[in-house]
Amino acid sequence: MFLWPVLRASAAAPFGTQCRCRSAAAHRTMHVLATVATWATLASADWASTTVANRSAGEQLASQLEARLHPQNYSLESTHLEDIRSFFWWDGALQEEDEVRATIDSDVPFSVLLEGLSADHPYDLPMIVSSAHLDSQEDHSSHKHAMALALVNGTTMEVAHGLAKSIVEVKFAACAQVAKLKADSDSEFTITLKTLGATKEQIEIEFGGLDWEWHPIQANEKYLKWIEDNVVVRPHASEL
Ligand SMILES: *[C@@H]1O[C@H](CO)[C@@H](O)[C@H](O)[C@H]1NC(C)=O
Ligand SMILES: *[C@@H]1O[C@H](CO)[C@@H](O)[C@H](O)[C@H]1NC(C)=O
Ligand SMILES: *[C@@H]1O[C@H](CO)[C@@H](O)[C@H](O)[C@H]1NC(C)=O
Repeated sequence: MFLWPVLRASAAAPFGTQCRCRSAAAHRTMHVLATVATWATLASADWASTTVANRSAGEQLASQLEARLHPQNYSLESTHLEDIRSFFWWDGALQEEDEVRATIDSDVPFSVLLEGLSADHPYDLPMIVSSAHLDSQEDHSSHKHAMALALVNGTTMEVAHGLAKSIVEVKFAACAQVAKLKADSDSEFTITLKTLGATKEQIEIEFGGLDWEWHPIQANEKYLKWIEDNVVVRPHASEL
């Protein structure tokens, strides 16, 4: 999503884009961002999601992470790559970019995944995010940083892109990503927002036609700060 990538020359190791998950639970984890699956099952699993420019960059980052974790006797369960369109503010302008979202599933604690991914990530300001261990039965509307997911179906990709863009345009979210629900689906999409929990009310008022699922998130500090700088919480949504 972010600019000024540090170009790296090392060759990408082969890394399957198919889910090679060992367990049904891991399989659900891998597909959660694409399927709006049951988040309760994810709360105890460790996973991290990031974005890169393209599939080869995603494969390379995953193999670099594997190489870092191996000496520590950690290993990755699987990596799932999805094509997405991202909308976000950068340098005072609304940007729109095709990217790849890499979701990494593993038994490795998020803090270790975060450290490993940060070390090799091609972006200066990457998004490295997870909601692992944050979800619970409690109300987490008070949690500062949040991810919201909605399924958009029976429509075109153009409409899904338009919706995502309009949410970022009014700074209800710092970033919105649109993905196909299934690789071969032309009418079902997911929109994933990174925002502040305090926007929940205004998003549900203004974009209430969509059924939003909210989850608290943890992420690299720079990204959390970037969310804070690019979201506007309006006490009265009707101010727009
Ligand atoms: C993928 O992205 C990287 C930068 O992250 C770039 O160096 C590389 O040329 C891109 N590859 C393709 C095939 O576009
Ligand atoms: C990794 O496992 C090997 C073999 O069991 C052991 O010798 C080594 O100390 C372990 N390394 C770490 C960092 O735990
Ligand atoms: C769209 O998704 C909703 C649930 O979010 C479901 O009830 C509805 O049947 C779906 N419609 C289509 C056309 O798939």
